Amino acid sequence: MDKFLVEKSPPLRGTVRISGAKNSALPILAASLLGTEDIILEDVPKLKDVEVMCEVLTCLGAKVEILDKGIIKINSKDINNYETPYELMSKMRASFLVMGPLLSRTGKTKTSMPGGCAIGTRPIDLHLKGFKALGAKIDVNHGNIGAYAERLIGDRIYLDFPSVGATENIMMAAVMAEGETIIDNAAMEPEIVDLANFLNKLGADIKGAGTSSIRIKGVKELGGATHSVIPDRIEAGTFMVAAAITNGDVVVENVITSHIKPIIAKLREAGCQVIENENKDKVRVIGSASPRAVDIKTLPYPGFPTDMQAQFMALMSVAKGTSVIIETVFENRFMHVDELKRMGADIKIDGRSAIIQGVDSLMAAPVKATDLRAGAALVLAGLVSDGVTEISDIYHIDRGYENMEEKFAQLGANIRRI
Ligand code: EPZ
Repeated sequence: MDKFLVEKSPPLRGTVRISGAKNSALPILAASLLGTEDIILEDVPKLKDVEVMCEVLTCLGAKVEILDKGIIKINSKDINNYETPYELMSKMRASFLVMGPLLSRTGKTKTSMPGGCAIGTRPIDLHLKGFKALGAKIDVNHGNIGAYAERLIGDRIYLDFPSVGATENIMMAAVMAEGETIIDNAAMEPEIVDLANFLNKLGADIKGAGTSSIRIKGVKELGGATHSVIPDRIEAGTFMVAAAITNGDVVVENVITSHIKPIIAKLREAGCQVIENENKDKVRVIGSASPRAVDIKTLPYPGFPTDMQAQFMALMSVAKGTSVIIETVFENRFMHVDELKRMGADIKIDGRSAIIQGVDSLMAAPVKATDLRAGAALVLAGLVSDGVTEISDIYHIDRGYENMEEKFAQLGANIRRI
């Protein structure tokens, strides 16, 4: 099993280019099952999760070619299967996103109940509420879950929580349903907008993506398209925090600054200079000698992203003062706290709140990545810890960060994979 060895590093300097967004590429790959002609996806990040999703599409009968430089070619004309095998579902819960497309294309879909993961139970009740509203029968047995529908008929669906996955799955189940579907209290993340733009290129008729009410008018068939995946706002935020925690001066390029407003705001509150370029596709982050403690509350977009919570906690661990981080999206997304405490961080958990008392410096220690973003947080902490921080279980990190150690190393970080 690979590990990262991270040593105290000088202030990071230089330019890093952000890859395509994992959480946009995965739903768009699933949505490729809806097309009946060639689909070309560009700027797809080279990640374990993307490979697994391509395996899922292949086992459903789609032709998938992973070309070089982040280009993937898909043709789903002849999909001949509607069951996602357990071993692929257990590897990555985002495989669950193929249910909506399969329901649209074949009228049936069967998969294993998605596993939970370190950050929470990850229920799917809202996905199923949407499928039922469109006329599907749901059948749960022996850990498998099936949805079947002779016809899908548009309906009005209210999401009790603006779930990203449920919004995506219902949107994909509704694109060829008869009549009109409206999703109320829909998720508004940029990845939802990217998915809707892709579906509309295929011939769908979706309006309102990015707002809390999305309207989908059913169409007969979807064709093919070429689409570039938006940049990964969470990878961008991770490198911005790396500049802040090392008091560095880093230019992060290939971003969409309107997608990272909460991160820019909080880094400025913490005392960093954050300069956006004219084109709004680059940010320069200049750290400060001693970051100030700021409070964070994670919320659905456009609030502060839960996927940046762990990385920010690493920064607050060495900030001046006391900060409070409230995690409102997932019920158990503090697994990184114990690991940071092993490195000398002073953090107390009280329900959904973590109270962080900044310390002068952290100490290297053997630690474990408990989930993708927790792993990233430990790398950030390792950059400013005395000694060599050994991070194990970094397969979590490889799921969501393309060439992380190379990108950090080119900024002057002392990090290597063993
Ligand atoms: C997506 O997960 C992302 N994953 C997550 O990123 C991200 O943290 C999350 O959205 C929130 O932004 C992908 O896009 C592949 P949700 P998803 O459904 O869709 C509750 C990362 O690090 N909920 O918005 O699973 C759920 O329990 C990953 O890249 C229900 O109650 O997130 C949770 O508390 C981690 N019922 C909350 O909604 C449902 O049917 C948010 O979940 C579905 C969700």
